[in-house]
Amino acid sequence: GAPIELDLSSIASGAQIKILWRGKPYFVRNRTDAEIKAARDVDVATLRDPETDQRRVKQGHEKWLITAANCTHLGCVPLGNQGDFGGWLCPCHGSHFDTSGRIRKGPAPTNLPVPQYNFVSDTRIRIT
Ligand code: FES
Repeated sequence: GAPIELDLSSIASGAQIKILWRGKPYFVRNRTDAEIKAARDVDVATLRDPETDQRRVKQGHEKWLITAANCTHLGCVPLGNQGDFGGWLCPCHGSHFDTSGRIRKGPAPTNLPVPQYNFVSDTRIRIT
């Protein structure tokens, strides 16, 4: 499949959309300041799959979190703005993801993967 470009300007702060690319779903979330702070206040050493929030977003575009939308346990699509960490809750077996898409509780072994993409303008990304 070819790269796609996506216009983010209609996604309100605190909202997320789900897109399909190459037959797979991805989340695109416009994080609030509080959600970014929550993601960055975590002691990374305590995480099951230790990754800083900084590594999972693009510098200068910290409010935008883009991840694969299949739970890393068995592939269900987690529900946004739910769970104990304000990110996602997987309805299948109860994996909780934080506002950086990192696994915090439940059976999923790893964080929601971040795809390869770049910003082509302040409100447009290109997923490759
Ligand atoms: Fe998400 Fe099992 S598929 S917790």
